Amino acid sequence: METLLTVRELRKTYRRGGGVFSQGTEGARFTAVDGVSFSVSRGETFAVVGESGCGKTTLARMLLRLIEPDRGEIRFEGRALLTLHGEELRSQRRQMQMVFQDPFASLNPRMRVGEIVAEPLAIHEPSLSSTERLARTTAIFGRVGLNEDAMPRYPHEFSGGQRQRIGIARALILQPKLIVADEPVSALDVSVGAQVLLLLQELQREFALTYVFISHSLPVVAQVATHIAVMRAGQFLEVAPRTSPSCAPANSWKWAAPNRCSTSQKTTTPENCWPPSPNSPTPDPPISVSLLFCSCPSTFNSRLSNSFPVR
Ligand SMILES: Nc1ncnc2c1ncn2[C@@H]1O[C@H](COP(=O)(O)OP(=O)(O)O)[C@@H](O)[C@H]1O
Ligand SMILES: [Mg+2]
Repeated sequence: METLLTVRELRKTYRRGGGVFSQGTEGARFTAVDGVSFSVSRGETFAVVGESGCGKTTLARMLLRLIEPDRGEIRFEGRALLTLHGEELRSQRRQMQMVFQDPFASLNPRMRVGEIVAEPLAIHEPSLSSTERLARTTAIFGRVGLNEDAMPRYPHEFSGGQRQRIGIARALILQPKLIVADEPVSALDVSVGAQVLLLLQELQREFALTYVFISHSLPVVAQVATHIAVMRAGQFLEVAPRTSPSCAPANSWKWAAPNRCSTSQKTTTPENCWPPSPNSPTPDPPISVSLLFCSCPSTFNSRLSNSFPVR
């Protein structure tokens, strides 16, 4: 399959502490995303799963250049995204849209939802007549399961699931190739979230979309992913296809325990390494993709009942 997105050694550090009241002292930097590399083929759902705070949102936002990486390379359809500026970047961006975790926070409360969904069209396709813009907006409302009489209403008038559908409509209206969905169902009730997941899957088939799908929830990832990356402390511990190579739990655990110290000895603190050193606090065992998705129903189901803890 053709590669749509390639990411190489992406890195982002933040300053911790310091700030405006610290009279010139600067906080130490810590690494939120640390040398992440992967590629995504057209039409697949590349899931990133990991506990809260491990760097998922930072990674998601860097993919769309909503956050500038410190280092690394992002190629979209072969074009180096980090070298683009101005009009080139703008036209590239319309191919890559984001669905956010919190559908309420991501929708402007003062705008009618019809305007919110149509706004990207006004920006990227200013030559469209208002009739054409209305037709496109109405069509996408229908496609995400919203009635067109919802269009003059405001975000607060909708339920969480409906708001997420509005967010999806806004992401889709420019007919992008890639959707980066950052915890798109985490803020929703389980049943509502399940419907939104089904919608995302239908839309993927219909519009030949490629997803980077971020989640802390193993059951959610199990439902949608074609490839899975397990993220911990800013790094990918493991990337594996949804279909697993083996179902021997012992082997799976060995396979799942990456020797992170060997590749990044200089930058990885001992407590971040697996297996942990005798003096470091014992972290949770890593999640094994092969264990998660092996063909053993009992193991699969027991893993599926777990999600990463949310702090
Ligand atoms: N703008 C920021 N400034 C400083 N630290 C940040 C900023 N954004 C995120 N962080 C920190 O970076 C780490 C990763 O955050 P994030 O990418 O939001 O993780 P996740 O989405 O997996 O919960 C966390 O420790 C978080 O507190
Ligand atoms: Mg997040």
